[in-house]
Amino acid sequence: MKRGESYVCRECGYRTAKWLGKCPYCGTFNSIEIDEEKTHSNKKKYPAVEFLSLNQVELSHKERLKTGINEFDSVLGGGIVPGSAILISGEPGIGKSTLLLQVANSVSKEGNVIYITGEESFEQVALRAKRLGIASDRLFVVAEPNVLRVLDNLDKENPVLLIADSVQTLYSDELDSPPGSLVQVREVASRLVRFSKETGIPVIMIGHITKEGSIAGPKLLEHLVDTVIYFEGDQQNFFRILRTTKNRFGATDEIGVFEMSSSGLMPVLNPSAAFLANALLDNSVVYPALEGTRVILTEIQSIVSPTFYANPRRTSSGVDPIRLSIIVAVLETRAGISFSGCDIFLTTSSGLKVKETAVDLPLAISLYLSLSGKKSGVLAAFGELGLDGSVRQIFQPEMRIKEVERFGIKKIIIPDYDRINHKVSEDVELIRVKSLAEALEAVR
Ligand SMILES: Nc1ncnc2c1ncn2[C@@H]1O[C@H](COP(=O)(O)OP(=O)(O)OP(=O)(O)O)[C@@H](O)[C@H]1O
Ligand SMILES: [Mg+2]
Repeated sequence: MKRGESYVCRECGYRTAKWLGKCPYCGTFNSIEIDEEKTHSNKKKYPAVEFLSLNQVELSHKERLKTGINEFDSVLGGGIVPGSAILISGEPGIGKSTLLLQVANSVSKEGNVIYITGEESFEQVALRAKRLGIASDRLFVVAEPNVLRVLDNLDKENPVLLIADSVQTLYSDELDSPPGSLVQVREVASRLVRFSKETGIPVIMIGHITKEGSIAGPKLLEHLVDTVIYFEGDQQNFFRILRTTKNRFGATDEIGVFEMSSSGLMPVLNPSAAFLANALLDNSVVYPALEGTRVILTEIQSIVSPTFYANPRRTSSGVDPIRLSIIVAVLETRAGISFSGCDIFLTTSSGLKVKETAVDLPLAISLYLSLSGKKSGVLAAFGELGLDGSVRQIFQPEMRIKEVERFGIKKIIIPDYDRINHKVSEDVELIRVKSLAEALEAVR
């Protein structure tokens, strides 16, 4: 160890003065790297800074930049805020470059857009543009991985938007580490963020994802930017979902739904219809999921079948497996329904990932119907289950009921609310339940 050297964990950002084989904070092996920035920085005297009271700050009245792709704008909270830095991340091949090329094209109506590509050549980008039917004189592609060189040459282009594809493939020549290393990723991202803050030109950067599904590089990357958006959906699936996980200028968990086609990503205007694309069967259980500010209907499908294994399988897609285990335990202990000796497979239609506990009740009902083989007709349900078998209220019941009703579903099982402002039409059966037992009684 040399004096003044500083080391940092690539995975969790833990700092240490000496090199270690295993990070004591996150437990990862071989993740500690030398932090060149810290190590080589010298003490210097800084010029004076300006201290302003908030009342003195002059607000620029620049409006948000509308991308013209409504699903994208709404995920951002109404367009791109001037000077903001946005990170978009997602699995390989999910369509990040496609989406941003479409955004670039659309925004180029407002002014010049610069698209820096570190992983593809001019020709590859041009080929994609051709397939997407994009031809704009104000959309410029730079196939130069040295981010400093690009930023240094942007003055005369005067862009309204800068896109960097991707932070892991771009680098700064001021550091010796290879592109994609911790320090480079951080440096590239912070250069881009600084550029956006200084010039007011918004920057969108693409970030790769690790095997575990988090953004590759330090967690710091997510702190650095204003908005973090994940692009989800599996590759066999045609649907792609944009989901905000951090937004300094809008609500999080707002989602945008797209469909991948040969001519690019098409916004899906009626997501509920898309997720419920298949005809609903006699024992379909529909769950109105609250995604950001809107409700999306998805079907909870399950199979309960005799197992051939000593340990029955519990497999779920779109629903947290821990939640599934909890609901099975509640069904077994509070409703006396045994799943021992049964495999359970659970999925949401079109692979929508549901995160709220409001999915508990439809999940329990679906499992019960699968096990018992009963048909209850198409129904919708929402509500959280307590471990004692109680059904608890959740947010926004009216919005959910409205969307279910709009879809022509006639039977809705909900927690027992004192008051619900929305009045359902006469042919809709709104069943209020206090407990799991009451809910199962209602579908028998
Ligand atoms: N001709 C086509 N028709 C339909 N879909 C296509 C066509 N060509 C490409 N795609 C879709 O585009 C996806 C690739 O998109 P894109 O290159 O934008 O992804 P990406 O997220 O940028 O990937 P990477 O992480 O490799 O950079 C493919 O997985 C495929 O689904
Ligand atoms: Mg790409």
